[in-house]
Amino acid sequence: MSPALPEGAAPPPDGTFPDWLRPSTGAGPRGFGVYLHVPFCTVRCGYCDFNTYTAAELLAEAGGRSAGHERYAETVAREVDLAARTLDAVGRTPREVATVFLGGGTPTVLPAGDLVAMVDRLRGTWGLAAGAEVTTEANPDSVTPDSLAELAAGGFTRVSFGMQSAVPHVLATLERTHDPDRVPQAVAWAREAGLAVSLDLIYGTPGESLADWRRSLDAVVACDVDHVSAYALTVEQGTRMAVQVRRGLIPAPDLDDQAAKYELADDVLGAAGLRWYEISNWAREPGAACRHNVGYWRGDDWWGFGPGAHSHLGEGRDGRALRWWNVKHPRAYADRLGAGLTPAAGREELAPQEVRLERVMLGVRLRGGLPLADVGPAGRAAVAGLVADGLLDARAAGAGSAVLTRRGRLLADTVVRDLTG
Ligand SMILES: C[S@@+](CC[C@H](N)C(=O)[O-])C[C@H]1O[C@@H](n2cnc3c(N)ncnc32)[C@H](O)[C@@H]1O
Ligand code: SF4
Repeated sequence: MSPALPEGAAPPPDGTFPDWLRPSTGAGPRGFGVYLHVPFCTVRCGYCDFNTYTAAELLAEAGGRSAGHERYAETVAREVDLAARTLDAVGRTPREVATVFLGGGTPTVLPAGDLVAMVDRLRGTWGLAAGAEVTTEANPDSVTPDSLAELAAGGFTRVSFGMQSAVPHVLATLERTHDPDRVPQAVAWAREAGLAVSLDLIYGTPGESLADWRRSLDAVVACDVDHVSAYALTVEQGTRMAVQVRRGLIPAPDLDDQAAKYELADDVLGAAGLRWYEISNWAREPGAACRHNVGYWRGDDWWGFGPGAHSHLGEGRDGRALRWWNVKHPRAYADRLGAGLTPAAGREELAPQEVRLERVMLGVRLRGGLPLADVGPAGRAAVAGLVADGLLDARAAGAGSAVLTRRGRLLADTVVRDLTG
């Protein structure tokens, strides 16, 4: 069970955009990123509430006929055509696509040729920028040397593996299926194919000791990757893990333990030359940060293709922005596009003050910080207190920007609350 979609106004059936979304005269081109959701996994991990479906679930719903994998690239191509039509109609044709990110689910459940076909469709429609970043997420046991080489030959530049932990009992609690030894092997194959590699980790799993976490961090460092994302385990409602916690079979994650593990991650990764650039992300410099995700935090434009994907087009004529999201189920998604309708289930307009609020909430997460000029009077008045509490960097504040200290990264919600008044 993945979480419900937000509520919002129903979009027109053909997905037409409001006229206010036209760019104001003289507005420069905005960065345009593409997120492409692939809602398939081989099995569902016990902690995960992402919008993803196993083949067994989809087959059962379709009376055993088809899980829909084989037509997925074709269905997405219909949404790409709809995107091109509706963007053209309001004068927002992207100059080119700067970044592409295939996420899931597990995109590599599909044949590499299908992933390449989806990127080809984007290239044929808008063109990819020179040096575009093209990433796919992957489960370590869903790739082979051949599939990775095919992705690289088809224009992918980066792969992000869900490693989570190097410790067997932690992987077992997370109900992960991959063998930890598979991770260094998959990393080596990806490198040989010429791909940049990122690893995803989860910390604070019940039963994980600080020594276990250190072992996972050491394993990451030994892989010599140039990018790491580390997330505190969240027990999401509706997951098998939430049931286990409710029944007292496993304890809920402990926030102090997670804070200690965050600090250890920052120490170990920092010592290995990976520097934080966003609260949960570390990268080797220069240039290994995930440009696609930085685009989200900076409020760029992006189109999210696929079931349940969210999209955002910033600042039309009067400073408003538009956000919308697609229907969640892959079959509903395919049916709507097949009938010539938009797959969007809802949309909402963001007033200029909401756009500014989002800029603060997202921008402060980045090491580059947030210009204090973007913060309202109440937020600016809170800066001195946040510096005194050790949550914002004093020197950066003196130079006019809000940059989180390490303690501030651990208490980012408090900082955001104070900066947004
Ligand atoms: C779509 S998955 C990555 C690719 C692939 N499906 C896999 O898991 O190997 C995205 C990432 O979200 C993180 N994630 C998912 N559910 C989470 C949760 N409840 N708490 C913390 N991190 C979570 C995991 O680190 C996972 O690697
Ligand atoms: S493989 Fe990844 S997306 Fe699929 S259920 Fe597990 S964490 Fe979620």
